[in-house]
Amino acid sequence: MIDQLNATFGIGEQLLFQQHASGLTQGIIRTERCTGSFFLLGAHLASFQPRSQAQPVLFMSGEAVYEVGKPIRGGVPICFPWFGPNKADPAAPAHGTVRTQLWQMRESRMTADGLMIALGIDQPSFSLLFRVVFGDSLDMSLQIKNATQAEQCCEVALHTYFQLSDVHAVQVSGLEKQAYRDQLTGQTVAPTGAPIRFTEETDRVYHGAVAEIRLNDPGFQRTIVVRPRASQSTVVWNPWIAKSQRLADFGDQEYLTMCCIETANVATSGWLIPAGKEQTIGVDISCV
Ligand code: BG6
Repeated sequence: MIDQLNATFGIGEQLLFQQHASGLTQGIIRTERCTGSFFLLGAHLASFQPRSQAQPVLFMSGEAVYEVGKPIRGGVPICFPWFGPNKADPAAPAHGTVRTQLWQMRESRMTADGLMIALGIDQPSFSLLFRVVFGDSLDMSLQIKNATQAEQCCEVALHTYFQLSDVHAVQVSGLEKQAYRDQLTGQTVAPTGAPIRFTEETDRVYHGAVAEIRLNDPGFQRTIVVRPRASQSTVVWNPWIAKSQRLADFGDQEYLTMCCIETANVATSGWLIPAGKEQTIGVDISCV
């Protein structure tokens, strides 16, 4: 399997497939521009670090579980075709079905912008194609095709975990004009007009498209710039103290060095995709 992947999709020293300690298959990227890695499980991006940066861009939990059928804590899980609990079936897995299943490699090549990989998965109602360019920035796009003869609803989130120096010091700007649904209280909150600072458990779905979100991290002397495409909602999450203790695959102190900013179409911005048609959500993540 690994030999076959390397023969078909490997790109010299720049893209190599290997077995992770867990037994899962992993792609390792080392180019002039960046390092990165991903798993076939969930088409899960596990790391990205441009050569200009001393620190990883993506957070991965030291307690993450690497097992088919379970989600990986950190990196970029893909939530689809629903976000959070399934409204019709409480026993169904949180955040949908594709983050815990094996995807297939579809393509890999060098482009002008960096090393491109594409992974796909066919579901009963949808065919997904996830393209990622590992360059100076990390550019992801997820194409969702309705594979049926009837229109289909779906929710989607690129559930991106960012590595922080210290959650108390960072500031997120770009969402201050958006109203949000506080997932902890169920209330809709009017735009605050101020950047986000983390001081407690935070679980919010911001409504409306934004061109740019900036995550300023003075400790790492960098600002992560998130530029969503075809995204009508943004989820901002930090589990803080009590929830970190409840999550089995997350360290009690790890909330201090991560936050999630998720490019999404969830809740009232879920997509209704006509029969045979497709939609593509994307995001570009860079550091300045
Ligand atoms: C966030 C949700 O996107 O994901 C939170 O808004 C949730 O409510 C979090 O707790 C993590 O979800 P999970 O299923 O990966 O533990």
